[in-house]
Amino acid sequence: MQYTNILTEIQNKVGIITINRPKALNALNSETITELTKAVDDFGSDSAVRVIVITGSGDKAFIAGADITGFLKLDKPGALAFADHGQRLMKTIEETPKPVIAAVNGYALGGGTELALACDFVYASDNAVFGLPEVSLGIFPGFGGTQRLNKVVGMNVAREMIYTGKKLKADEAYRVGLVNKVVAQASLMDEVMKVAASIIANSPHAIGIAKEVINQGATLPLDEGLNIEKNRFGDCFGTPEMIEGVSAFIEKRKPNFE
Ligand code: COA
Repeated sequence: MQYTNILTEIQNKVGIITINRPKALNALNSETITELTKAVDDFGSDSAVRVIVITGSGDKAFIAGADITGFLKLDKPGALAFADHGQRLMKTIEETPKPVIAAVNGYALGGGTELALACDFVYASDNAVFGLPEVSLGIFPGFGGTQRLNKVVGMNVAREMIYTGKKLKADEAYRVGLVNKVVAQASLMDEVMKVAASIIANSPHAIGIAKEVINQGATLPLDEGLNIEKNRFGDCFGTPEMIEGVSAFIEKRKPNFE
């Protein structure tokens, strides 16, 4: 499919989605949200893709938030529809059966931080900046920030970030657990491709189930999550990938999950 605001490519079984509105610092307007949702959905069901990476074009911004230029035209139902649109993108990222890595290459503000939170984990360049500055605009995060941030960084850090709108540089974002690894900007994609390759070496079936179970457990009491875990654990046994993985171990060779 031809996109206007994003670029897509597949490299070494990694589906790379690049938000490509550098003049607006890759801000998310409705069209971009629609395109991103479609691209994640398509890569999610493409057997040639095992890991999805989302990044921004240029060296300044990952995503500088939702596109503010349309905000003054939005009434209450319009704002609700916009939030719903953004939230559906984040759910699509969260629920796709493949791991999604955010490669944050600069400003990740508002919807940028919210999109990173919907990804499975985050690698960032040393010039990355995270934050939820919405309250400075008289609004608050509407693409999942009030719900997902506290699960990653804890309630008090989340409250402080949301109430002050303060910006966190990459090293502070790493310190609070928002980012898994900070690297020099020039090596960000190499590092992300390396971690993607180490995921791709493993069983896609098992990873898909693990992602689903992790997500389900995040909102459940421990016992219910454990119950889901043991039932889905059983689903792996006897599958071709489980037979290959265990046989490879016994035969002292690398498994082949092609
Ligand atoms: N929506 C729409 N356009 C945006 C944008 C956004 N969220 N963020 C940046 N832009 C546009 C700017 O309007 C500017 O456009 P122009 O060149 O036509 O004037 C261009 O991107 C460059 O931004 P600028 O502000 O000049 O760059 P900067 O280096 O001085 O500052 C930021 C960078 C990210 C700190 C600043 O752009 C910013 O604060 N953006 C908004 C962040 C935000 O509040 N996000 C949450 C939205 S809900």
